[in-house]
Amino acid sequence: MIIAVDGPAASGKGTIARALARHYGLPHLDTGLLYRAVATRVLRDGMDPTREADCVAACDFSDTLLDDPWLRTDEAGQTASIVSAHPLVRSALLRRQRKFAQQPGGAVLDGRDIGTVIAPDADAKLFVKATPAIRARRRHTELAKAGSSVTYDRVLADIRARDERDSSRSTAPLVMAADAAPLDTSTLSIEVAVERAIALVEAQR
Ligand code: C5P
Repeated sequence: MIIAVDGPAASGKGTIARALARHYGLPHLDTGLLYRAVATRVLRDGMDPTREADCVAACDFSDTLLDDPWLRTDEAGQTASIVSAHPLVRSALLRRQRKFAQQPGGAVLDGRDIGTVIAPDADAKLFVKATPAIRARRRHTELAKAGSSVTYDRVLADIRARDERDSSRSTAPLVMAADAAPLDTSTLSIEVAVERAIALVEAQR
């Protein structure tokens, strides 16, 4: 069984995808980390994230980079959203994601284009969303707990900028697949959101 979980930044898709993977005993891939790894290599090697050729050169990163905590920072996320708009970066990362999706037994993948591009034939597709204000509140609380002094307004502005870039790019933009089930987590606790996600998967498989 392949489960595709898409949605914007801080919508809860990562938490839901991990919970689904545990529930069904499937391996999970957070595909955002792949774009974050490319962004990290581009920045560390002094290259330019707006130059497609620089970003393609950074696509053969080693798997150990995926464990680097810096990948989880907001700066990595913002740069990831710049590098991910290049069509050649997306095609360089496509095979790796498809291979993960097609392993025997299945998999759960979360990202922006899993249900539309990476696994259009997935057995279940969810599109997780929440209002920008709620997503910014969640991300701000997380960052504050980790010791960051960034303001809520800054986090909200970054979320809006990332939404705009991810939705307006011409290759694999952030859109809900026609056959995906929407799940709005704005007013839901994590526990209830996960319960609803399982019910939506059960209804589709
Ligand atoms: O999900 P996460 O916030 O880690 O993703 C970081 C960035 O990587 C996103 O803003 C998006 O631009 C890009 N991304 C993508 N396609 C995916 C996953 C992430 O374009 N499947």
